[in-house]
Amino acid sequence: MNIIAVANQKGGVGKTTVTMQLAAIMSRRLRVLVVDVDPQQSTVWWAENARARLPFDFAGNQHPNVLARMRDLGVDYDVVIVDTPGSLEDTPRLETALDASDFVIVPMTPEPLAVEPTMRTITRLIEPRHLRHAVLLNRIDGRLGSQLDTWREVLDQTFGVPRFEGYLRQYKTHADAPVLGQLVTSVGDNRRTQGSIADVTRLGYEMTEQLSSATNGAW
Ligand SMILES: Nc1ncnc2c1ncn2[C@@H]1O[C@H](COP(=O)(O)OP(=O)(O)OP(=O)(O)O)[C@@H](O)[C@H]1O
Ligand SMILES: [Mg+2]
Repeated sequence: MNIIAVANQKGGVGKTTVTMQLAAIMSRRLRVLVVDVDPQQSTVWWAENARARLPFDFAGNQHPNVLARMRDLGVDYDVVIVDTPGSLEDTPRLETALDASDFVIVPMTPEPLAVEPTMRTITRLIEPRHLRHAVLLNRIDGRLGSQLDTWREVLDQTFGVPRFEGYLRQYKTHADAPVLGQLVTSVGDNRRTQGSIADVTRLGYEMTEQLSSATNGAW
């Protein structure tokens, strides 16, 4: 079982979006559980709007202590994806979740104000735990040709942090998804949705590769 935390102490960078969409795409091949340890409970609202249509198991409103206990109890999923709080006052909850995690996805939006909190999350909370991690650029504007290159360079050259090759572009499909209870696996593939589906699919492959290289092809 691999526990993946989705974390960044900057609010609104896409933690909840990445948690739900990645869980949906990975559930096509793997047994996936989503655990929400954010007191804000954004996934719960999303899950309620989806009614019975979630393709993965879901545990909202959890204390992060359950993550460590799940291993002891022999709860078995291929992947557990954990949505975590973005607020500084919830740092202890985030730390407990990280203590139980194997990998951290750090979503980040391409805006200068996101840089400092993102780097602080990595250097203060993730690196000291020797956790494997990668930054995921989110809300990339496909119309701004140089934006992706600029931000990749910032991450690679200026900060030297690991990042996903894949990224998520800004799409209305993602913005509308929570209120409609939709996921990339349920929206239907058409001209309007195909970009968001392609982005999440690529992320799913990359995440699976990262995990299997860590466990030496054990699953
Ligand atoms: N790729 C995207 N395209 C369009 N909208 C997006 C995208 N990613 C996130 N959003 C929207 O941006 C807002 C913030 O995203 P989200 O709730 O996933 O961030 P978060 O990091 O979980 O926030 P918080 O720190 O408050 O928990 C939401 O309204 C979401 O729908
Ligand atoms: Mg959230």
